[in-house]
Amino acid sequence: MSADRITLALSKGRIYDETLPLLQAAGIEVLEHPERSRKLILPTNHPALNVVLVRASDVPTYVQYGGADLGVCGKDTPPPPPFQPLDLQIARCRMSVAVRADFDYVRAVRQGARIRVATKYVAIAREFFASKGVHVDLIKLYGSMELAPLTGLADAIVDLVSTGNTLKANQLVEVERIMDISSRLVVNQGALKVKRALLRPLLDAFAQATPQARAAQSAGAAPAQGALA
Ligand code: PRP
Repeated sequence: MSADRITLALSKGRIYDETLPLLQAAGIEVLEHPERSRKLILPTNHPALNVVLVRASDVPTYVQYGGADLGVCGKDTPPPPPFQPLDLQIARCRMSVAVRADFDYVRAVRQGARIRVATKYVAIAREFFASKGVHVDLIKLYGSMELAPLTGLADAIVDLVSTGNTLKANQLVEVERIMDISSRLVVNQGALKVKRALLRPLLDAFAQATPQARAAQSAGAAPAQGALA
């Protein structure tokens, strides 16, 4: 990690797409499009800033160990302390339980039946069902979770829902909302000290570009300060 450069870790897809306007608000343009390039390190028009593309679940790891100075990750990938995340309120979605339309989830839960649940988010699912006293067998999957109830692999899934279109297209229905999710900016604590002069303007710009800060500004409130620096 070079002292005169900063590296921002992003994952392709929703988080990348919704972080771009925040970067633009800070006057920053990414100079190559991730879908049109095989490069994993993308230059920007900011002479000291590069964007690196990593898997969403790897963002906290890159930031924690200094492979990146800062990164944007979903609340479903909790950063370990001593991170001080700033909620960017982007890539908003929810973590929910969904089942086939013909599966009587309420009855199964009421009867204390043992339910098979497929998910990528095993820890969240385990905690949620334990808190409700529902007996579950958890099956870890890495993608296409909607297939599990359709093929008989599981009774239910725990997955992210945004528009609900994926569930609908696969004849699944949302039966419980576990938590609301939005994405957070996490910063390497060493970089926060050593690269403060480079990071501070960026952190302030991010803080001022969140939907909540913009709404407050248009209502006449004082501009938001970068909560992290
Ligand atoms: C998520 C999730 C669903 C889909 C829901 O997948 O796993 O499949 O989005 O979105 P919708 O409610 O708007 O249809 P994502 O596209 O993030 O990719 P992933 O499968 O790699 O997690």
